[in-house]
Amino acid sequence: MVTRMKSNSHTEDKNIPLKKIEKALVGTRFKEFKHIEETGSTNVDLVLRASEAPDDLILVSDHQTAGKGRLGREWNSPKGLNLLCSFLLTSKWTKNKNPLVTSSLALGVVKYLSTIDVFALVKWPNDIVIPERKGKKISGILAEQVEGDIERIVVGMGLNISWPSSSGEGPPDAISLKMLDVTLDRWTVLAGIIENFEKQLKRLEQSNGSVTLRQDHVANSATIGNQVRVETANNIIVGSAEDITEEGLLVVNDGNQDLYISVGDVVNLRKKN
Ligand code: BTN
Repeated sequence: MVTRMKSNSHTEDKNIPLKKIEKALVGTRFKEFKHIEETGSTNVDLVLRASEAPDDLILVSDHQTAGKGRLGREWNSPKGLNLLCSFLLTSKWTKNKNPLVTSSLALGVVKYLSTIDVFALVKWPNDIVIPERKGKKISGILAEQVEGDIERIVVGMGLNISWPSSSGEGPPDAISLKMLDVTLDRWTVLAGIIENFEKQLKRLEQSNGSVTLRQDHVANSATIGNQVRVETANNIIVGSAEDITEEGLLVVNDGNQDLYISVGDVVNLRKKN
């Protein structure tokens, strides 16, 4: 089902190719696609509405007034230029795999981008970066657990389609498809990501899902093999990024020992020799 939600802002959604989105949903777990012109945050909306939404669904907004990034940061994007969406998921996997939903979406995005000849990698834990453009960030992902009787997760993604349009615009480390000379609309990109995310989720559900996902994450990582500085809540770790575990933890060797990091910000210092 495809729904357009009401909001106070001027309607623009007549341009959404609903047939294309409906087609992309076929065979996936997502029973509904909702579009809203403006909201605070698509992640917050889905977390709040999860109890009334029996099925897995996708919410896209043209604009967010309080878009959330990781670690309490903001995610800002001008109206209608980028893909701002959240997926509501019902867990069909064991609880220990929940942190891997972020890597599943990240890999889905990387694999979709490869189909349009954009080479991207996953910068641990949740950034999609373009190595050939000095590791600039094209997409960020934020997963949130929903409190309730059944296990549900909201995972949101911001993907820069048309903004920034040049290096003088937006955050200095940001890049968009437009800056890579790719001119695709948000809906075509969304349709491709739905298909690729679904494949990753199906894999996550398999008994060896964490094993193969880990392998794929390492193979598509912009972090592993680098000297890194990782800022955690109470520490700064400098060392060599060695591995990602089946639980999604980053393993950094600081010269003395392997440290297992669940939350942190990574700065790539240099490629390991
Ligand atoms: C990050 O890189 O810090 C994660 C950014 C996640 C942004 C997306 S935009 C759609 C969804 N709604 C939000 O409020 N945040 C996510």
